[in-house]
Amino acid sequence: MSKHRFAFVGTGGRALSFIEPLVTTYRDSNELVALCDLSPTRMAYYNAMLSGELGYHNVPAYPADRFGALLRETKPQTVFVCSKDDTHHDYIIRSLHAGCDVITEKPMTIDAAKCRAILAAQRTSGRRVRVAFNYRWAPFRTKVKELIAAGTIGRIRSVNLEYLLDTNHGADYFRRWHAHAAESGTLLVHKSTHHFDLVNWWLDAIPQQVFAFGDLVFYGRANAEARGDGHLARYPRYTGHPESKNDPFRLDLDESAAFRGLYRAAEEDSGYIRDHNVFRSDIDIYDQMSLNVRYRTGELLTYSLTCYSPREGMRVCLNGDRGRIEYQEFIGTHMNRAVRPGDFKLDQKPGAEAEGEWIRVYPHFKPSYLVNVPPATGAHGGADAVLSHSFYSPDAPATDPWGRFAGHEQGAASILVGIAGVESIRHNTPVNLHHLVPLRPEAKKLSELV
Ligand SMILES: NC(=O)c1ccc[n+]([C@@H]2O[C@H](COP(=O)([O-])OP(=O)(O)OC[C@H]3O[C@@H](n4cnc5c(N)ncnc54)[C@H](O)[C@@H]3O)[C@@H](O)[C@H]2O)c1
Repeated sequence: MSKHRFAFVGTGGRALSFIEPLVTTYRDSNELVALCDLSPTRMAYYNAMLSGELGYHNVPAYPADRFGALLRETKPQTVFVCSKDDTHHDYIIRSLHAGCDVITEKPMTIDAAKCRAILAAQRTSGRRVRVAFNYRWAPFRTKVKELIAAGTIGRIRSVNLEYLLDTNHGADYFRRWHAHAAESGTLLVHKSTHHFDLVNWWLDAIPQQVFAFGDLVFYGRANAEARGDGHLARYPRYTGHPESKNDPFRLDLDESAAFRGLYRAAEEDSGYIRDHNVFRSDIDIYDQMSLNVRYRTGELLTYSLTCYSPREGMRVCLNGDRGRIEYQEFIGTHMNRAVRPGDFKLDQKPGAEAEGEWIRVYPHFKPSYLVNVPPATGAHGGADAVLSHSFYSPDAPATDPWGRFAGHEQGAASILVGIAGVESIRHNTPVNLHHLVPLRPEAKKLSELV
């Protein structure tokens, strides 16, 4: 049996979560044929891992400006896009035109024009785009889908979702490229695409209209100074600045071998500084956002994202016409100090009163009950392992009973909520998603979209 040929674009922190299973667990049926990144140093770091601890071998490494040569010379069947968000569309479109299928990390892209260009390229090429929405694949989130689909609380009419990013993981977005709207689309696109996709998928609904507010109230120099924290804004970055020693927002790239190899050593060839001061002046994204969505089938979502919280996780309440589901997951922080999924360092779990993850059903006129959810293990609530199986295993079924495969249209339905939110904040007006990117006007349910 010939192996499936994958090329990876973007060899930052995230790519390893998908490269590692490809070249270990799933190596008999798949092959990694090339890497592509702005930084030769970062690719060399990956190659050292491949030929060293991962027991694989070096693969050809193409700088970003030689992606065309990568496509011609290594002939991948699937290109896996894990680069910075504002570059996704370019790689997706060129891969589709070269006859490849694409798997892209979320967000599929960051604005409406790029989204329209991806949909057009998919139509012309007829190739497949999948968005790696790992949230859908975490067992406890799939359980909510199962409860809703079984009619446990009747028809869902409204959802409240509050997401908290803490001062470790949340702050990390303000150290990096995510802090610029032109590179991330703001966190309403970069981060909230997970949450909007989750609600779209749970409800099997297509978002129609959005109204939003957003402000920068915590990060950034002006906020630090106004709060009396101006001393935390004195240095441009943390690494190499001993005066930041006691700063709770400090990230020292010299402290771990992975950070040194992947980011510190690659500063010269990529210009990417991974540890900018979160209280610098050029941040142009919001750190608190509040938004209302109306779906084509009438449901309402009330959503908020807070990026400077002492704890991290989400609370969701789903109101149905036969009851209510309350769902919460509070997790330690996991992203900041880990490069390999196995290295995720969970900070102190919240106290017993917070109880980690649970789902409680409140049926109308009956006692409430807790729903048993199998404990999740592995990165991102167990989702990454299940998702990798769906990408790489020859035994993975072509369809999923819970509809967890997300194509380009479902990818668009999620980012468009955030893109419309940004438009709404900028113009202080409700935004109709159809005016940004028309998505099958006749479709009512998300599952009618690819
Ligand atoms: N689903 C999840 O849970 C999850 C988690 C983390 C990241 N992600 C996604 O994965 C992607 C990568 O995130 P990350 O955390 O690895 O970021 P990162 O900053 O560590 O890596 C980004 C990489 O993109 C490269 N890059 C930048 N411009 C490029 C260009 N023009 N061409 C090729 N490469 C370029 C950078 O050199 C860097 O290696 C993002 O889209 C992010 O949204 C998803």
